[in-house]
Amino acid sequence: MKVILITGATNGIGLETAKLLATQGHIVYAAGRNLEKLESLNNIKSLYLDITDEKSIESAVNKVISEQDRIDVLINNAGYGSYGSIEDVSLTEARNQFDVNVFGLASLTQKIIPVMRKQNDGHIINISSIYGRFTASFGGWYHATKYAVEALNDTLRLETKQYGIEVTVIEPGPIKTDWGIIAANKLADSAQGSAYEKQALKSSNRMKKLYTSNLLSKPQVVSKAIANVVNKKQPKVRYVVGRGAKFFIFLNTIIPTRIFDKIISKI
Ligand SMILES: NC(=O)c1ccc[n+]([C@@H]2O[C@H](COP(=O)([O-])OP(=O)(O)OC[C@H]3O[C@@H](n4cnc5c(N)ncnc54)[C@H](OP(=O)(O)O)[C@@H]3O)[C@@H](O)[C@H]2O)c1
Repeated sequence: MKVILITGATNGIGLETAKLLATQGHIVYAAGRNLEKLESLNNIKSLYLDITDEKSIESAVNKVISEQDRIDVLINNAGYGSYGSIEDVSLTEARNQFDVNVFGLASLTQKIIPVMRKQNDGHIINISSIYGRFTASFGGWYHATKYAVEALNDTLRLETKQYGIEVTVIEPGPIKTDWGIIAANKLADSAQGSAYEKQALKSSNRMKKLYTSNLLSKPQVVSKAIANVVNKKQPKVRYVVGRGAKFFIFLNTIIPTRIFDKIISKI
């Protein structure tokens, strides 16, 4: 039975993961801003957390420590996709994208590493994306955050191994959650009156169709993979999950960039 803190646990992948880990008997602190979705769930401890607010991060960590005196697993899952062309997305929005997906994750991690170091034991699981491995049009700011998560993850793994801390990254492909609708709406909003408007609106509509279809993997595919990592004695450093995810990462590594550009632009 492990003490687990998971961010972005009020929806999608995080919610499914929190539920699964709780049914396995772990002590799960499910963190997020909108806690209503957690109210009816048994055996889950809901934890208010705005990942962009230092005080909120501090009090969330203090609460878990005061109640459990340890944190075995941190799952950095909170995130959203600020879609739009590099030119169109305002730097204020781009900064917020980094605040949530990168600096929030980093701040929480910095506060939990000393706890795990003291325990000489712990596991940090970072939820990246296949878009931490390659990019596509209109996702540049989001992809930049996931590339950053990959770099932080890989460095952290090297630095904390000596203190008994495991670090694992999960790279999901497209998963059927609200993430896609939020990203598609942001793409449409950012493109109003822009040079990319026609193309961006077409992409936004395609995203909405895709993320409401049954073509994509369900969030349970990722939650099972995360739970598997939590329960494994010697987890791998990297897991690619979801329909098509391994294929695109492989394709990107073996074919010339300009050909990959053509393929990814069509999709
Ligand atoms: N769905 C996909 O296709 C896909 C693919 C690859 C990777 N991912 C990654 O998987 C993770 C989970 O995404 P999802 O698909 O489950 O999306 P989702 O259903 O939209 O859930 C996102 C979660 O992030 C939380 N969040 C957003 N802003 C936050 C903030 N400022 N402070 C604290 N929490 C915040 C939300 O909680 P509150 O609003 O309650 O705060 C929510 O619980 C993200 O990191 C995403 O980038 C998703």
